[in-house]
Amino acid sequence: MQYINHNHKIGRNDPCWCGSGKKYKSCHMAFDDKIRKFAMEGHEVPSRSIIKTAKDIEGIKESAKINIACLDEVGKQIHAGMTTQEIDNIVADVTRSMGGIPACLNYEGFPKSVCTSINDEVCHGIPDQNRILKDGDIINVDCSTILNGYFSDSSRMFCIGNVDPAWKKLVDVTRECVQIGIDNVKPWTFLGDMGDKVHQHALENGYTIVRQIGGHGCGLEFHEDPYVSYVSKPGTEMLMVPGMCFTIEPMVNMGSDDIYEDADNGWTIYTEDGKPSAQWEVQVVVTETGCEVITY
Ligand code: MF3
Ligand code: CO
Repeated sequence: MQYINHNHKIGRNDPCWCGSGKKYKSCHMAFDDKIRKFAMEGHEVPSRSIIKTAKDIEGIKESAKINIACLDEVGKQIHAGMTTQEIDNIVADVTRSMGGIPACLNYEGFPKSVCTSINDEVCHGIPDQNRILKDGDIINVDCSTILNGYFSDSSRMFCIGNVDPAWKKLVDVTRECVQIGIDNVKPWTFLGDMGDKVHQHALENGYTIVRQIGGHGCGLEFHEDPYVSYVSKPGTEMLMVPGMCFTIEPMVNMGSDDIYEDADNGWTIYTEDGKPSAQWEVQVVVTETGCEVITY
């Protein structure tokens, strides 16, 4: 295996760090120079370790096939009267049958294979054989997958039976927020440009976005740099460049953005005012012109 010291300055004629086999000068040299200029202007820029190679992206996409299959299967089976443990079983079974590992399981002690967050639960709800879905619930199912060391992560909302139209609107607007995020991932602009657009759409609809929890780089590890906020300001946060891979996953609250953590299980986050919260999550890779959606 070739050892590449990322701190060492690569010579113009050395092989590029990205593994293309091309000379550095005809591959990523101009790219690195461009990043350095932004850094000199005081901007936060990505380190090389979070820029994915073509091989990495291929691996992440393979992992994503399992991730998407899990949520597709949950979507087929989810119904009132089902327990959240049964959702966990679906994710565990589909993941294992396709050769993957659920990334949530044992992650910092998380006890289950997926997160199931209902109504006022903002995120990190723990599947439970005694928790039964009922008519009118809205639930986020957040699934993450490891395949051959590559991580994928996405979540979807499901409306159970007859959902209050105001709650349905929250779910729909949250999905629109994610689409606006996707549309605003552009290389050589900032995460704060994108995050602010997402935030504005929530605010325009009378909602708030959770401030303390956001998206994250994802691919070679479950949670990598950068942290991705959706209450950020234009021109701030990390510069987006081709090859960066991260999640867009705003948690949108119908009421205030205040939240608290479950004191008993140490995981589940709730809205302080008890009003509902919704979240959709996709994983994207930044391209030369925008981004490609890897999970949905
Ligand atoms: N899937 C969540 C995310 O989007 C993380 C859950 S961590 C867990 O980042 F341990 F709760 F699963
Ligand atoms: Co995530």
